Amino acid sequence: MTAAAVPLAPDIAAGLRRLKLAAMRQLAPELLITAKTQRWAPEELLRTLIDAEITAREASNARTRMKTAAFPVIKTLDELDRSACSIPGPTLDYLASLEWITARENLCLVGPAGTGKSHVLVSVGVAAVHAGHKVRYFTAADLTETLYRGMADNSVGRIIENLLRNDLILVDEVGFAPLDDTGAQLLFRFVSAAYERRALGIASHWPFESWGRFLPEHTTAVSLLDRLLHHANVVVTAGDSYRMRQARARGGTALKDK
Ligand SMILES: Nc1ncnc2c1ncn2[C@@H]1O[C@H](COP(=O)(O)OP(=O)(O)O)[C@@H](O)[C@H]1O
Ligand SMILES: [Mg+2]
Repeated sequence: MTAAAVPLAPDIAAGLRRLKLAAMRQLAPELLITAKTQRWAPEELLRTLIDAEITAREASNARTRMKTAAFPVIKTLDELDRSACSIPGPTLDYLASLEWITARENLCLVGPAGTGKSHVLVSVGVAAVHAGHKVRYFTAADLTETLYRGMADNSVGRIIENLLRNDLILVDEVGFAPLDDTGAQLLFRFVSAAYERRALGIASHWPFESWGRFLPEHTTAVSLLDRLLHHANVVVTAGDSYRMRQARARGGTALKDK
């Protein structure tokens, strides 16, 4: 018969609470019994408690990082059907290695709608969160809106510095909406501040030579691309829209069923 766990002595429980060692506090009563009945070396008990606390804390940090990353949906690289993706396998493997994040390189995904740009962008972000990186996802519209708001109280610089506390900042749907002069300047300021300091991941359906269509001033487009592309992994996606292919496949089945 194994002895039932007895509650921790009040001073120990209070001490662990004060030190915010919640996992230790929760596991200690049972582990004390196990350690006694299985005659653990005292060191073993201490190690097990510390390991439990570290594991619990890492899981909690990862949950927080995932929440603050603000992904619109969760996608993973494993869910990407490589046979239906125009990105070469070795490129996907390199992106999955996350080495480019530590090297402060950028990722620029360009290609038509439905070719997996957002999927890849989000899934490298999710992988980075799991690997312990701080990540923040934006659509270009949300990012410029955030920077715009800082203009009212002169806090654009502070907002940008806060964003650059992340290891990886993702900007999706670049060029979906045209930017006015101020929006373009703000985006330039952000990209320029991130240059060689942090990894950026961007996705756009516009090939780079067409960025003048949504960036009003030619020189802004040129200077922005200059910084963005200097240390960048450019990935061009191609092919039919995955969404359309799925819709067609569904439609095809429905017709055959009739
Ligand atoms: N190769 C693929 N394997 C699995 N799902 C894919 C693939 N390519 C695209 N998808 C899915 O198709 C949809 C559209 O892809 P998305 O990444 O949003 O395209 P884009 O951002 O290029 O317009 C998403 O639901 C995405 O998860
Ligand atoms: Mg997209």
